[in-house]
Amino acid sequence: MDVTELRKRYAEHGQEHVFEGMEELAPAAREEFLRQLEGIDLEELDELIEGYRDRPPAAPKELRPCETIREPRSEQEAAERRKALNRGEELLRAGKVAAFLVAGGQGTRLGLPGPKGTFPVYPITGRSLFEVFAKKLLNLRARYGREIPLVIMTSPVNDEETRAYFEAFHYFGLNPSSVRFVVQRTLPAVDLWGKLVVDMPGHVHVSPDGHGGALYAMRESGVIRELLDGGYAELFYFQVDNPLVKICDPVFIGYHNLRRADVSTKVVEKTDPAEKVGIVGYIDGKPGVIEYSELSEEELNARRKDGRLRYHAGNTAIHVFNLEFLDHLARGGGDLPWHYALKKARTADGEEVEVVKFERFIFDTMRFAGRVTVLEVDRREEFAPLKNAVGPDSPNTVRAALVEMWARWLEAAGVEVPRDEEGRPRGTVEINPLFADSAEELKKKLPPSWRWRDGALL
Ligand code: UTP
Repeated sequence: MDVTELRKRYAEHGQEHVFEGMEELAPAAREEFLRQLEGIDLEELDELIEGYRDRPPAAPKELRPCETIREPRSEQEAAERRKALNRGEELLRAGKVAAFLVAGGQGTRLGLPGPKGTFPVYPITGRSLFEVFAKKLLNLRARYGREIPLVIMTSPVNDEETRAYFEAFHYFGLNPSSVRFVVQRTLPAVDLWGKLVVDMPGHVHVSPDGHGGALYAMRESGVIRELLDGGYAELFYFQVDNPLVKICDPVFIGYHNLRRADVSTKVVEKTDPAEKVGIVGYIDGKPGVIEYSELSEEELNARRKDGRLRYHAGNTAIHVFNLEFLDHLARGGGDLPWHYALKKARTADGEEVEVVKFERFIFDTMRFAGRVTVLEVDRREEFAPLKNAVGPDSPNTVRAALVEMWARWLEAAGVEVPRDEEGRPRGTVEINPLFADSAEELKKKLPPSWRWRDGALL
């Protein structure tokens, strides 16, 4: 490795400061550092910095809400739903559906040391998010007689630990050959003057390139092509933080496929105007996710005739993608835009600095889609993301949502659930997704003599 050459290159891009103090590094650390510096694409970084500096002032955009597919309210809609279910099940049985889990994030808000997917989210057994997803996939395998391949996107921040975790638990019963890891890339963040930040002696501060990096990770790993070659047609996409996710929901896949959508997305109704959730809608005529900050006070509070919020379609980050469409995008059919986030980083001297992080978002694929379908689902049954250590979207709220959901399923199966003055179930139960992953399945399998008991496991 020619250090002088590398130094010169960094100097040309105004980043030579990163070499300060390099002589003090031990030889191995020095090698490692030089390798990292060699791997940074300085031309691309200049473009990113320029893009950030020249970003247009937030010009008003033309925003519109979208129509959603809701619970059937007529015989015709009910028939369509049955058709969607049948189509989805057909596709699952025929081995046309694969699953994609994004787990490359840093999970800074939760503050767990290690990958978020290892968080013991289940209230009694402490089953982790990863285990829950694996059990849901095993349930699907039993039901549809097909192994659903699972692609897990990690990032250099957590790749090794994630793989080791799956190994240690023997993939929770999944066939290891049906699980594929792809690693997203990281990008340097820069300070407000566009300078790289050395966050440890011999290391430039980097972070994963956002969940939109999935598209590039898929391309680099060749996984889209492989899936297409293996006869798969649709990709179910979900995030690591939501234990309620109905993986490969046949109704969702069915609507998507019947309507020949390139992208489909699940939304939940936003009822509180103050909830800071992205809204699926139209931005300058193109489908996408409208950020909370993009809506005016008036728009946030606007209501339809039926009383629902006008901008009600809360993004859950659960999608289905047509694989041909992804292949087309990944081959250059549309470049996802960059988003900039201001974050804090610590320098090697222990100083806290503000940095600009460059990220891409997967929902921006929607703007390139020929057709997008939006399915509205019951938040209580499908969406409780784990984001924070305390407060909203924290272990407490997620576990409460799980127990409440299981209590409802049990009530639907005829079990009496004792509830407190606020209507919360008294005590905690837990249902293994392998035993039952829906109210209907539970009803079929629950022994008639089963009674609610705090600490009961099914
Ligand atoms: P979040 O936006 O909640 O970010 O990610 P995060 O990194 O998990 O958590 P914070 O913001 O640091 O607290 C939503 C989903 O997207 C994945 C995450 O793993 C999670 O499943 N993600 C996010 C990636 O896979 N890569 C990224 O670069 C960012």
